[in-house]
Amino acid sequence: MRLLLLAAVLGIALAARVSYDGHKVLRVNPTDDQLALLMQFKNRPGFSFRNEPRRTGANLDIMVSPEQHAAFLSFLKEKNIGFHVLFDNIQTLIEAEDRRQRSMSKVPRAISFDQYYRYDEINSYLEELAAKYPNLVTLESIGKSYEGRDMVVIKISSGGSGTRPAILIDGGIHAREWIAPATALYVIYQLVENNAANSALTDAVDWYILPVLNPDGYEYSHTADRMWRKTVSVTPISGCPGVDGNRNFGFHWNEVGASDYPCYEDYAGEVAFSEIEARNLRDFALANKEQIKLYLTFHSYGGYLLYPWGYTSELPPDWHTLQELAADASLAHVNAGGNPFIIGSSTNALYAAAGGSDDYMKGVAGIELSYTAELTNTYYGFQLPAELINETVTRFFESVRVFGRYVKENF
Ligand code: ARG
Ligand code: ZN
Repeated sequence: MRLLLLAAVLGIALAARVSYDGHKVLRVNPTDDQLALLMQFKNRPGFSFRNEPRRTGANLDIMVSPEQHAAFLSFLKEKNIGFHVLFDNIQTLIEAEDRRQRSMSKVPRAISFDQYYRYDEINSYLEELAAKYPNLVTLESIGKSYEGRDMVVIKISSGGSGTRPAILIDGGIHAREWIAPATALYVIYQLVENNAANSALTDAVDWYILPVLNPDGYEYSHTADRMWRKTVSVTPISGCPGVDGNRNFGFHWNEVGASDYPCYEDYAGEVAFSEIEARNLRDFALANKEQIKLYLTFHSYGGYLLYPWGYTSELPPDWHTLQELAADASLAHVNAGGNPFIIGSSTNALYAAAGGSDDYMKGVAGIELSYTAELTNTYYGFQLPAELINETVTRFFESVRVFGRYVKENF
C-alpha cells in the first residue's frame, strides 16, 4: 500500500515535470560589444542565460527553446557572433541524470559521492552523524523554509572553550546547482567520518555547515523543474513564484544586477529579506558573528572564487588578503588535479549583482573573509553528471583545507 502510494506520488511528480525537449545550449565567447547585443535576450521567454560573464574572454552559455532557436541563429549570423552547440537537446541530459538517480540503491548504505541526494536523505545522514559522533557533532535547525522544511546546520566541534574561531559554509541557495549541497556534504563527511585524518582542521576551529540553504527549491528542482534557481514563495504575479535568494540579502539590496520583476530569474524580492531562508541564515550568522571568521557559500558553475563586493566595482580595503587566500586555495585545487579558479571580486571577475549573501556577511555581519565558490567549469553546467561528483568534491576539499588552516593560524 505504502509502495503504491509512493509510486502514485512519484508518478504525479514525474508527470508534472517541466520538459526541456528541444532546448539547446549554445556557447558564445562574445566581445564586449557582442555581449551588449546579446543582453537584450536575457529575460526573454525561451531564453535562459546560464551564466553571465562580464570579463572579456569568458564564455556565455545560453539555453534556447525550440521556438526561438531559428530566429536566434539568424540573429547570431547577422551580427557575426560565433558560437558552438554545447547541447543539442538538454532534455536528453536531464533524462540520463534521472535514470541514474533512480538506479542508485536506496537501501541504507554508507554515503557515497556518486549520486545526488535528496533533502530527506541529506538530513537523515546528518542525524546519523549526530547519533554516531555525539562528541563532535550537534545539529541545530535554524528555522523552517517557506514550505516548512527544517534548515539544519551541522556544528562540527571537537570541544574547547566555545570561543574558537569558526567557519560558516552553506550550499544550494540556488536550487539547480546540485554540486553545491553535494560539496557541503563531502566537507561534512571528511570532517566527521574521516576526522582521524583531518583532526588538524577541527582541533582549533569549529565548523557550521548548512548543506541545503534553499530546501524547497532544491526539492522542486528534483521533482518538477531541473532548471529551477529561486525559492518557491508566492510573489505578486501569480504563475511566477520564487525569489532569487542571492539577491535578497539586505546590503545595498536591489541596487544592481537584480530585477524587480517576479518572473525573472534574478528577482530580488519585494523587500530585502522577504525570504524566510535568507532571514534564517542572517539570524544564525548574526547570532554567531563574533565566532565566525570565514564564510563560504557554494554555487555552480564557472570555476570562480569570488570575494566582495558584488554591489560595486570598488574593492574592500582588505582585498589583498582575500585575493591571496583565494590564490592559495586555488593552488591546492590545482595540485589535487583540478583547474585553477578565476579569482577576483564578484563585480570585477563576474558581474555586478547586489543582495548576495557574501556581501551581507562581510558588509553587515562583519565576517571579513567572505567567498562565493562557483564550483566546476565543465560544459555540463548545472547538470554535472553524478559520475563526476567524486573528483569534484575531493579536489575542492583541498581548497577547503587551505581556508581551514588559515583560520586556525590567524585567529
Ligand atoms: N553566480 C552568483 C549569483 O549570481 C554569483 C554571486 C556573487 N556574489 C555577489 N554578491 N554578486 O548569485
Ligand atoms: Zn548560484
